[in-house]
Amino acid sequence: MFDPELLTVLRNARHIAVFTGAGVSAESGIPTFRDAQTGLWKQFDATKLASPSAYRTDKALVWGWYEWRRMKVLKAEPNPAHLAIVALAEQVENLTVITQNVDDLHERAGSFGVVHLHGSLHKPRCFACARPYTFSSEIPEEPEDGRRLEPPRCVHCDGRIRPGVVWFGEQLPEADWQRAEIVAHQCEVLISIGTSSMVWPAAQLPKDAADSGAKVIQINPDATALDKVAHFNLRGKAGDILPRLVEAIRTVG
Ligand code: OAD
Repeated sequence: MFDPELLTVLRNARHIAVFTGAGVSAESGIPTFRDAQTGLWKQFDATKLASPSAYRTDKALVWGWYEWRRMKVLKAEPNPAHLAIVALAEQVENLTVITQNVDDLHERAGSFGVVHLHGSLHKPRCFACARPYTFSSEIPEEPEDGRRLEPPRCVHCDGRIRPGVVWFGEQLPEADWQRAEIVAHQCEVLISIGTSSMVWPAAQLPKDAADSGAKVIQINPDATALDKVAHFNLRGKAGDILPRLVEAIRTVG
């Protein structure tokens, strides 16, 4: 059972922002970053994998790791949480998905115009000239954990190709960040799903939304830094809670 006030807030909202992190893809089999045991940053050293200097130091290590992650995503399917967000969008005037995830599971579930704050595994570019690189359509074999793989070369300048994700120490893509900030200030409800709310500036968005008068709803099985800001904290897995929540809004309406 959901708080009737929560359902009223959602039913009356004309613009909902859905802000997602790794937890929304966890039930598709994509590992999160900070969960105990299974989190990527518990098993791998971010400083050796997720910065421009790490890439300069060992391109094959970095490229192989990101290819391993891309293969996982290619084999994964959207889960009930991704699908419930699409169903919710059909019930409100305006819904914007803002994600920190570098997978394409929101799009494959049917979400449009997704704002990708941390880039995409599927949009690599040249490290030298920044022009985009197109992967072949074949699904390559999944490299084993940590397998080294030489990055391909740019067809334009012969530079090395890098993953299209935002690394530590890099700026967020400007257009995506601006759009996210506008949405955070304009939305009436922001639903934060599956993020530890520890990485800035992304973690600022729910706070900005609250400061601008939006109601903030959080869906997460664990306590996070956002607990104190959120008006409604729903404890549990996104793939369990979201479909029930969307159904409850629909049936109450
Ligand atoms: P984290 O791994 O920090 O947090 C994932 C959150 O998802 C945790 O709070 C979990 O409790 C929660 N969670 C786990 N399973 C869930 C489920 N089934 N349903 C709902 N929630 C669940 O991931 P992010 O917050 O996304 O950045 O991390 C933010 C950024 O840190 C990432 O985008 C990445 C990383 O470094 C870059 O790579 C730039």
